[in-house]
Amino acid sequence: MAKRSPLKNKNLLLGVTGSVAAYKAVELARRLKDEEADVRVIMTSASLNFITPLSLELASGRKPLTSLLEEPLAHVNLAASADLFIVAPATANTISRMALGVADDIITACFLAYKGKTLVAPAMNPAMYTHPAFGRNLDFLKNALGAIEIAPEEGPLACGAAGIGRMAAVERIVEAARDAFAGKDFQGRRVLVTAGPTREQIDPVRFISNRSSGRMGFALARAAAARGADVTLISGPTAIEPPSGIGKFIRVETAAQMGKAVLEEVNDAGVLIMAAAPADFTPEETFTEKISKSDTLDLKLKATHDILLEVSRRRKRPFTVGFAAETGSGTGRAEGKMKKKGLDMIVFNDVTRPGAGFDCRTNAVTIIERGGGRREIPMMDKEDVANEILDSVLQLLNA
Ligand SMILES: Cc1cc2nc3c(=O)[nH]c(=O)nc-3n(C[C@H](O)[C@H](O)[C@H](O)COP(=O)(O)O)c2cc1C
Repeated sequence: MAKRSPLKNKNLLLGVTGSVAAYKAVELARRLKDEEADVRVIMTSASLNFITPLSLELASGRKPLTSLLEEPLAHVNLAASADLFIVAPATANTISRMALGVADDIITACFLAYKGKTLVAPAMNPAMYTHPAFGRNLDFLKNALGAIEIAPEEGPLACGAAGIGRMAAVERIVEAARDAFAGKDFQGRRVLVTAGPTREQIDPVRFISNRSSGRMGFALARAAAARGADVTLISGPTAIEPPSGIGKFIRVETAAQMGKAVLEEVNDAGVLIMAAAPADFTPEETFTEKISKSDTLDLKLKATHDILLEVSRRRKRPFTVGFAAETGSGTGRAEGKMKKKGLDMIVFNDVTRPGAGFDCRTNAVTIIERGGGRREIPMMDKEDVANEILDSVLQLLNA
């Protein structure tokens, strides 16, 4: 599979501390290595109670350092060569000690000797996370020392408590690491993205929808935000977490609601990317009571409002990108759609191809430009496909 990771050949220093979430650092090290980064793990002595250096060595491909004295001057040398410092999981203790400038273990000593970007992914009990003493230290680490927090999530924790404090998902930490190297080439641009399916209500318990997961649109929104854009994301119902870093997130249910939200937001946008799969048809009538079971049911559908067409008819409209999910490899219909709807670009994908299109993490697309240019994007993570699409958008905007 093709990759365009900004983490390729970057020296990452991964600090692991004494939290129950330490086992997740194995998956994190492996994922960072998958991005072709050079990962060096450093561990506090408390972390050794939760995870073995051997597991982290297997995941990262390099022997972790577990003390300041193991390799003389390692803290200075590692700090000098690191492109990014990630502490995940980061305990209350280590975060507080980093904020105070303590330097009596390998992580805090490296942090003091290091001058680059630092990401911390706190993991702890909710009472610890919301304690003002910890809050003051975390704020100082972020505001005065410039560390970036990958905020923890809410939910049940291993200690039995529920609330905020569960370490951010590994996926989010990898994304934050990638973002740390993103160029800000979308700075000053307002980007409006739509994502996901819509639901068209039949009766109070049934609806018509489709297989869109929202991943492609969410990846576009996140990638644009990481590249400095002010992003508004309008999404239909999805099971995935809203991306971090975006300015505004609007949840909608139906195609009509999505259309209304787009028309309300589009005036401010310089770029509109319609990655959603709004329903083309909606029931002519929505029943107020559940329809009883019967042998057959005649359901009359009517076409929904064409959002893209409406936007493209406006005198002042943004650079507009549409998506064409087709069942076959011919791009003729996509090109027809681009012309009919006056789009600047259309992203074609064959959803019958394994690993492409709906409900999967990867995609392979053809980017077709109004002027006739086209780029084949091989199978990649949707995150990478998003960046390829943004590259094409920027190239045309700057042309
Ligand atoms: C079973 C167990 C689980 C713990 N989990 C956490 C945790 O998730 N987050 C945290 O901040 N501290 C946690 N602690 C407390 C830390 O391990 C303790 O503060 C330790 O001194 C941290 O050292 P370090 O920051 O040098 O790794 C836990 C302790 C125990 C015994």
